[in-house]
This record gives sequence, C-alpha cells and structure tokens, in this order.
Amino acid sequence: VSRALRVVLLGCGTVGRGFLELLERERPRLIRRHGIDPQVVRILVRRPGLRDGIDPAVVTTSPLDAIDTPADIVLELMGGLHTAGALIRRALVRGQSVVTANKALLATAADELAALASKKGAFLGFEAAVCGGVPIIRTLRDSLAGVSITSLEGVVNGTCNYILTRMERGSSYVEAVQAARECGFAEADPSMDVSGEDAAQKMTILSRLAFDEPIRRVERSGIERVTRADVAATRAGGSVLRQVAVAQRVAGGISVSVGLRSISGTHPLARLDGEENGVIIRGEAIGELVLTGRGAGSLPTASAVLADVIACAGEREGRKAAA
Ligand SMILES: NC(=O)c1ccc[n+]([C@@H]2O[C@H](COP(=O)([O-])OP(=O)(O)OC[C@H]3O[C@@H](n4cnc5c(N)ncnc54)[C@H](OP(=O)(O)O)[C@@H]3O)[C@@H](O)[C@H]2O)c1
Repeated sequence: VSRALRVVLLGCGTVGRGFLELLERERPRLIRRHGIDPQVVRILVRRPGLRDGIDPAVVTTSPLDAIDTPADIVLELMGGLHTAGALIRRALVRGQSVVTANKALLATAADELAALASKKGAFLGFEAAVCGGVPIIRTLRDSLAGVSITSLEGVVNGTCNYILTRMERGSSYVEAVQAARECGFAEADPSMDVSGEDAAQKMTILSRLAFDEPIRRVERSGIERVTRADVAATRAGGSVLRQVAVAQRVAGGISVSVGLRSISGTHPLARLDGEENGVIIRGEAIGELVLTGRGAGSLPTASAVLADVIACAGEREGRKAAA
C-alpha cells in the first residue's frame, strides 16, 4: 500500500522540470520500494502561460497561493534570496518539511534555517545544493558522522571545470564561456561561477557540515584571466589547471579558499572532465575518500531532490510509528 505525499514545487526551471521528469520515471519504484506516491499539488512560476506536460490547474504565479496550499513537503527550486527565503521560513515555522537546492541562500542562512527546522521538528533537506548528483551532503552528515575530518578539497563548480577542460581542447576563454552557455551550464552572466563566488558558497556549506569549528576566513580568486597559453604550458609540464576549493583547519577555526591551481595530471581532481565535480574528503580514520560525478544539470540535481523527498517521507513515517 502506498501513501500519497502532497508536494508543492516552488520553481519549475532546469531543476524543477528535471524533478517532474524523474518523478514520472521513478514513480513505480517509489511506490514499490518506498511505499510513497508523490503528487505535485501546486507549482509556482514567475511567468504565466501554458507549459508542456504540466496541468495548468496546478500552476500559480502567486507565492502565497503556492506556499499556503495544503502539502506534506515544499520543494524550493526557484533560487534567489528574498522570496525563496521568506517562503522556506513560512513553511518551516509551521513545521512543514522543506527541500531546497538553493546554495546561495544556504551559504548565508543555513544555520538559522537548520535551527528553525529543528525547533519546529521539520525536515530540511539540501542534498541538491552542492555538487548536483554527487551525494556529498549525506556522506558528510551521515556516513562520516564518526570521522574527524581534517580537510576538504574539491572541484565544485561545473561551469569553471567545463571552461577549463574546453580550453585544454584548444578553445579561447571567451569561446569556452560561450560554449558553456550554449550547453546550459553557464548563466547569461557567469560571473558568480568564474569569480569563485559559487564555489566559495558551496565549500562554506560543506565546511559547516564537515567541521565542528567556525569558519574564520573565506578567500577567493577568479579564473577570468586564464589564457589558452597558460593552459597549454601547464599541460606541457604534466599538470592541469583547475578551479579548486579547499577547506582546512587553521588556528582558531576553518579557512576556505577558492582559486585557479595547477595540479598534477595524476591528482584525483585532474581527470574530471566537462561539468563534472569531485570532492576529496580527508579524515583521521578514513584516509582519503573521493566522490566524483555530475555536479549540475537537470536530472543529476533532480536525483538529489528526489532522494531528500524519499528521506523526508521515511522520517515522517518513523515519527508516526514512534508516536
Ligand atoms: N541548474 C542546476 O544545475 C542547479 C544545480 C544545483 C543547484 N541549483 C539550484 O537550484 C535552484 C533552481 O535552479 P534552476 O537552474 O532550476 O533555475 P531556473 O531554471 O532559472 O528556474 C527557476 C524557476 O523558478 C521560478 N521563479 C524564480 N523566481 C521566482 C519568483 N520570484 N516567483 C515565482 N517563480 C519564480 C522560475 O519561473 P519561470 O519558469 O516563470 O521563469 C523558474 O520556473 C537555484 O537555487 C540553483 O542555484 C541548480
């Protein structure tokens, strides 16, 4: 017997549409294996109008209409800080479960939102916010809960990795950025990616999960000035250029830094191609653990959202059984 799970979707762009597609593909397995049958009862978008394959009756452009629709779980896949933050808080305050992919919001408000969720007994999932289809959040939070982590080192921005690996194949920086836009990896304005800001936000989120000490400093530099000649010269020396984000222990806390680094061709992050992401986790009991995979895009990111929905349903069931 499966339980219906009412879902409100805030945003139906790259990730939201991927979620709808994945949900339909996986529905038989969700019913069979997890005993849940998610039903999308409301979808918030900005621009009105018909959308392929979506029942117009569930679509709204009113944030209040969307968030006040009776539901078991709210998926925030709209991005932005203000409206998204207000809607998430409104849901959590009434104890409603929330899943979000919003790394920009979490980079500044994760602690506050987690405290609110915990106070209200609500589930807050954000596996999709970092590294898309690579399950880094749950790995750090759950699987490695028994490990003292000493450092994190990662390629966590797929757009930069795409640009740099494209340049290894002979493109100029401008051509590589254009190609990243055409493939849908880079925004019209890719400055958040190429400046290192996006990677710094993601590494900040990971650091909060990985370490039990405060983040003392966040430093970043961009990849905007890299040239085809730099890329070729580095390769000729047996290394590659990558945008690498590092979090490590320093006196009094954690330091996060993001920048263009030359790494040996045999380094685990050197083989990441295109939009792939990877994180090396170092810990006292485990040595080195490397997670790599598709760091962005519609279906990989949606897979992380769906995993959180399943986890949330499991937690709700557990709580009911315990009551
Ligand atoms: N794309 C990725 O690979 C990826 C990976 C990891 C995390 N994320 C995160 O996932 C979130 C969504 O990203 P995305 O790429 O799916 O974005 P997107 O393609 O731009 O889609 C955003 C959706 O939200 C709606 N929306 C945005 N602001 C709104 C507002 N103020 N009121 C009502 N509707 C609004 C848009 O409506 P319209 O359809 O009418 O424009 C659209 O449906 C972001 O936080 C992003 O950082 C994305």
